[in-house]
Amino acid sequence: MDDDRPLFFHLMAYADDADRDVIDMVSGDPDWEPPAALREGIREFADAPVAAYQYPPSAGDTELRELLADRHEVPVERLLVTNGGGEANHLAMACGLDAHSGNEVILTDPVYPYYADRAELLDADVTYVPVAEDGTLDPASVRRVASDETALIVACSPNNPTGAVYGESVKRELADIAEANDALYVSDEVYEEFDFSGRFHSAVGFDSPNVAVTNSVSKAMATTGLRVGYAILPDRLLDPARTRHMLTNVAVTAPGQYAAAKALRETPDSYYAETRAMLESRIETFCDALDAAGAEYIRPRGAFYVLARFDGFPGTLANAKRLIDEAGVAGMPGEAFGTAREEWLRFALVTPRADAAADRLTDYFA
Ligand SMILES: Cc1ncc(COP(=O)(O)O)c(C=O)c1O
Repeated sequence: MDDDRPLFFHLMAYADDADRDVIDMVSGDPDWEPPAALREGIREFADAPVAAYQYPPSAGDTELRELLADRHEVPVERLLVTNGGGEANHLAMACGLDAHSGNEVILTDPVYPYYADRAELLDADVTYVPVAEDGTLDPASVRRVASDETALIVACSPNNPTGAVYGESVKRELADIAEANDALYVSDEVYEEFDFSGRFHSAVGFDSPNVAVTNSVSKAMATTGLRVGYAILPDRLLDPARTRHMLTNVAVTAPGQYAAAKALRETPDSYYAETRAMLESRIETFCDALDAAGAEYIRPRGAFYVLARFDGFPGTLANAKRLIDEAGVAGMPGEAFGTAREEWLRFALVTPRADAAADRLTDYFA
């Protein structure tokens, strides 16, 4: 693991140094506007009294916590505001490993790489469960490997990198498997607002002592730099998670929480609907181009990534660099996401130039 320089930083730097125009489809940083109320919240906070600039409550700004708890219909005590979904997920994994008997973490393959890195950091053993061709997860394959050695099942839906959306029954079954094996199912829902299938269902509703949900405003409000996320945890994890959060971060930045609360209160549903429509149109154009280029790909049902495979062009780091130099398109090598899609490349549709990237790929592979 190279925490100082994750692969995507390396590739973005490589693309920046290229002597040609490169369309960056490496990172998952949204390129669209955050909600207007979020920008207003940041501006308003600038003039807040001195007291507002001091330590916020460690578990989160009171109003923000209440808004989020209401939105998810959970008691406010169960919700901890964190430094992005990343911290929420780390807390759930670390505390889940401590609280449950085994030391195994079950992950999907392909996988969001930070889960695997976190498991390594936490000295856990990882078991990968491959997903189907279309990115869907068959919970029976998780049940087959789960045992009393299992401490965690970590999965995200809508999924990065496959774009699959696991429906309610899949998530319910993951929760059941966790319950049957004294494990914790950590459901990462940061792409909740980007469901094009209508199948998204939050695991919060299961109200199970074996389920933790992690989420954030990073993607939903196009603000990965704001660092406002949250964990909804079962009772037994609350104290340990609060302690870890307190000792690592003390609290989450006050201006970010203020702006997030204002945006949650004031942003109309149309903001999310318009973003979804814009992304669906990008996905459509990009997938048409992949068809024209003769590529194999998974059409995303959620999130904003497309995994694709070009014949005779495996998605290695060397080929990702070649694509930058020769086609002017930067994507992530499949090998970053486990072993199952090593031959593939992941393209993040977070650029207004997704259409141009599609044309470049069509021309390059023609
Ligand atoms: C699946 C998944 N979970 C969590 C995160 C981290 O989100 P945050 O910015 O809220 O820490 C990302 C970011 O790309 C992600 O793809």
